[in-house]
Amino acid sequence: MKQVIKIALCSAMIATVSVPAVAAEPFEDEIKARQGYYQVIKYNFGLLGAMVKGKKDYDAAMADTAAKNILAMSKLDNSLLWPKGSDNSKLDNTRAKPGIWENYPDVKEKSGNWKAAVETLAGEAGNGLDALKGSFGPVGKACKACHDDYKAK
Ligand code: HEC
Repeated sequence: MKQVIKIALCSAMIATVSVPAVAAEPFEDEIKARQGYYQVIKYNFGLLGAMVKGKKDYDAAMADTAAKNILAMSKLDNSLLWPKGSDNSKLDNTRAKPGIWENYPDVKEKSGNWKAAVETLAGEAGNGLDALKGSFGPVGKACKACHDDYKAK
């Protein structure tokens, strides 16, 4: 009898402990996809950054391609990748703060500012190093504006 109760208690404890892990699973794909999305942006933006900082020779065709890739990325409808509840208050595989879902109009505005800056960058990046330099900074600021409020360090 004692044995049976012990086993029952034990499995009840295991069930309690494993609930958060099970609940985290539904968003795993979305989180991976949106992080991969940002990694592709980072790669292209990083190339431009290296040219801006003189760590890489300016190459008009490469700069044009990288900037246009970011522009193409900025036009994706990523709404499916941000399901409610997929924030870092309960999950540890994301740095997305809950504020994204609480202040959606502000996120949309920051995202809109970013898209506008990317549009300018895509038009300028291939027109010489000075043109790239002039349009790169505002995009970096727009990335940071969103990260400061909505991405955990
Ligand atoms: C409108 C908001 C917003 C803008 C604009 C934005 N980001 Fe992010 N970024 C996020 C959020 C939120 C995350 C966290 C995603 C997660 O962990 O689920 C993130 C994550 C990232 C990551 C980490 C991805 C990973 O592997 O975990 C990188 C790199 C990144 N962003 C780069 C950039 C760059 C570069 C720009 C600008 C060219 C940019 N982001 C613009 C919101 C934004």
